[in-house]
Amino acid sequence: MIIASPTDYREAARRKLPPFLFHYLDGGSGAEQTLSANVADLNQVALRQRVLKGSETLDLSAEWFGLKYNLPICLAPVGLTGMYARRGEVQAARAAAGKHIPFIQSTVSVCSLKEVASQCDKPIWFQLYVLKDRGFMRDVLQRAKDLGAGALVFTVDMPVPGSRYRDPHSGMSGPNAEIRRMIQAVMHPEWAWDVGLHGTPHDLGNISTYLGKATGLADYIGWLGNNFDPGISWKDLQWIRDEWQGPMLIKGILDVEDARDAKSFGANGIVVSNHGGRQLDGALSSARALPAIAEAVKDDLTIFADGGVRTGLDVMRMLALGADGVLLGRAFVYALATAGQKGVENLLALLEKDMRTTMVLTGTKSLREVDSSILAGDHAGAR
Ligand SMILES: Cc1cc2nc3c(=O)[nH]c(=O)nc-3n(C[C@H](O)[C@H](O)[C@H](O)COP(=O)(O)O)c2cc1C
Repeated sequence: MIIASPTDYREAARRKLPPFLFHYLDGGSGAEQTLSANVADLNQVALRQRVLKGSETLDLSAEWFGLKYNLPICLAPVGLTGMYARRGEVQAARAAAGKHIPFIQSTVSVCSLKEVASQCDKPIWFQLYVLKDRGFMRDVLQRAKDLGAGALVFTVDMPVPGSRYRDPHSGMSGPNAEIRRMIQAVMHPEWAWDVGLHGTPHDLGNISTYLGKATGLADYIGWLGNNFDPGISWKDLQWIRDEWQGPMLIKGILDVEDARDAKSFGANGIVVSNHGGRQLDGALSSARALPAIAEAVKDDLTIFADGGVRTGLDVMRMLALGADGVLLGRAFVYALATAGQKGVENLLALLEKDMRTTMVLTGTKSLREVDSSILAGDHAGAR
């Protein structure tokens, strides 16, 4: 299949992956209204076309927490990334390192933190969930620290897992799920050979390290389901701020009040996010929530945003709405599933090209010039 644009990777991944994995990645919660709105609302953001204001040299770099990165993009934490390509977290981390952007490793990654650190020469950022098992949280936090993780991304929008209605239909869960998954694997031989046979162990690396025994997909659903903590509050988490001295981002902020609370908590940044439309269906899209949050806390916090970012143009739109950086979720996993590390590298090259074109056509030379002043139409004056 020809890959000409970043969005071609979705169809390529759909063809290659067993349906239970494709739909787990592609789907959202409830009727998937927030998932759709993330994409649709971002598409509605118009930029001002300017002429005869371009430049041959463009600065696409970003600076967060005193360090410079080549693009204003991070690879988002995506659980089970290692089921989408052979040792998928390692491949994605290497692609990110090659481009000098952060790879954020999920708590529920297939590869352990140690495996990724041993295979990749740049430090990752680590994403931590709030879980009932505080012993696990302390243990994994310590391991992330020992391995030199560059930032902690603390995800707070999953006190309970959202209702993912595609899962029982696809075989991710539901009746005879294991047999259905095996049949699907047989019918997708390229994936079965690359990941099913040669990408083992299909573990939850960080959790099996802690438990001292092998884990698998059943544990993913079971352990996570039993371990989320709906009763948690900011003050229950203060020990984490006290224990982690490096940069800390709170991920899953969609409300101005929560953004202010994150600041009071002592966060260095936030990720404006609805978990890619996988939690509260009917929540605002990130593109709609972002301007007011940026207005409220931009002077005090570094603001990242995710949800619906599929192209370089989308990256520019998020920056224009007030973000300092953008996380790519599904987009990078579609590319990883299609062609591994090379797929992610090519995706990043396509996004960069798209961003460069957008910069020339909006008359911006550096990302520091990208703000609400480049918004057009209904969004002009959004901030
Ligand atoms: C399959 C899948 C698994 C995810 N797992 C995690 C996770 O383990 N931790 C986390 O903080 N966010 C997780 N997310 C949310 C992403 O980090 C990110 O917020 C979201 O994908 C952004 O939306 P986008 O996919 O439209 O780019 C997951 C998203 C997907 C699609």
